[in-house]
Amino acid sequence: MNRKVTVVGGAGNVGATVARAVAIKELADVVIVDINAEKAAGIALDIFQSCPIDGSDTRLLGTSDYAATADSDVVVITSGVPRKPGMSRDDLLQVNYKIMQTVTEQVVKYSPNAIIVPVANPLDAMAQAVYRISGFPRERVVGMAGVLDSARFRAFIAEELQVSVENVHAFVLGGHGDTMVPLPRYSTVAGIPLTEMVTLGYLSQERLDAIVTRTANGGAEITKLVGTSAWYAPGASAAVMVEAILKDKKLIVPCSVFLTGEYGVNDQFLGVPVKLGKGGAEQVIQITLTADEQAALAKSAAAVKELAKVIGV
Ligand code: NAI
Ligand code: 2OP
Repeated sequence: MNRKVTVVGGAGNVGATVARAVAIKELADVVIVDINAEKAAGIALDIFQSCPIDGSDTRLLGTSDYAATADSDVVVITSGVPRKPGMSRDDLLQVNYKIMQTVTEQVVKYSPNAIIVPVANPLDAMAQAVYRISGFPRERVVGMAGVLDSARFRAFIAEELQVSVENVHAFVLGGHGDTMVPLPRYSTVAGIPLTEMVTLGYLSQERLDAIVTRTANGGAEITKLVGTSAWYAPGASAAVMVEAILKDKKLIVPCSVFLTGEYGVNDQFLGVPVKLGKGGAEQVIQITLTADEQAALAKSAAAVKELAKVIGV
């Protein structure tokens, strides 16, 4: 096995979860990079020691030296400060932007052909920063948020309807923040749109509205309970993206990508459905939106643009 995935910030909660998922699935060898070199080495060793139990021959290394990351196929960037209770993702803007600057320079130096999956918050602005700093084509900088937000939406819908999560598909578009746009019309239970489930009487409009709101507040709900932001679902979400890229799955999922006119949005990152494969975000899938959905997406795009402007990306 000689594919390589680097997780920058991998000694932290989300990064270690991504690294472990990649290792268990034997998707690639894993390099965990962190400013905390000792912790990176320790986390890599711990995951390595779990590999016999999981039947995985993945090799792992933890370090603060980017030389070990050379020629990575995928680099996931989770380095950054997480939210504390009461903090918004946007409070993290300046501190995490500085981290993106140093990290991206090193990533590009050692892995000029990698696909980068930014995860640090505020996600869309950080992804845009990575895109600008890296100079990579837009296909190769793909932010993780929509997979997570859609997973939350799916979990809540499945719980509400008492059906298997495997029956539930969901689309949450827009920025990874309070303005995100869960789309009931494009979210389905066994192929039946949620809006139709309401018409058929399986789900009340009131419950659907409550679930949409809970989805948009999904990160804050966990932060309040745990005292820091979530990591299991975010880590699993990033790992799904890594797998889709390495296996060239052509998986259609919402991701934050640089838009050049799609959905009426120009010159900025925003969460939209994309096809993920070995080239990264190989295609932006354009679906038709109602006037209300389009307005919500435009509002979300404006919120992301505002943040990007603050850091000048
Ligand atoms: P954490 O604090 O557990 O881990 C962050 C790690 O980054 C630490 O190990 C730290 O030493 C490292 N780090 C800091 N500066 C670094 C640098 N310059 N170079 C290398 N490593 C550096 O935080 P956690 O919970 O893992 O969250 C990481 C980021 O991901 C946060 O910004 C959080 O808000 C974001 N996040 C994003 C989600 C999304 O949906 N996009 C979901 C969950 C978290
Ligand atoms: C989350 O949604 C805080 O972005 C992080 O859990």
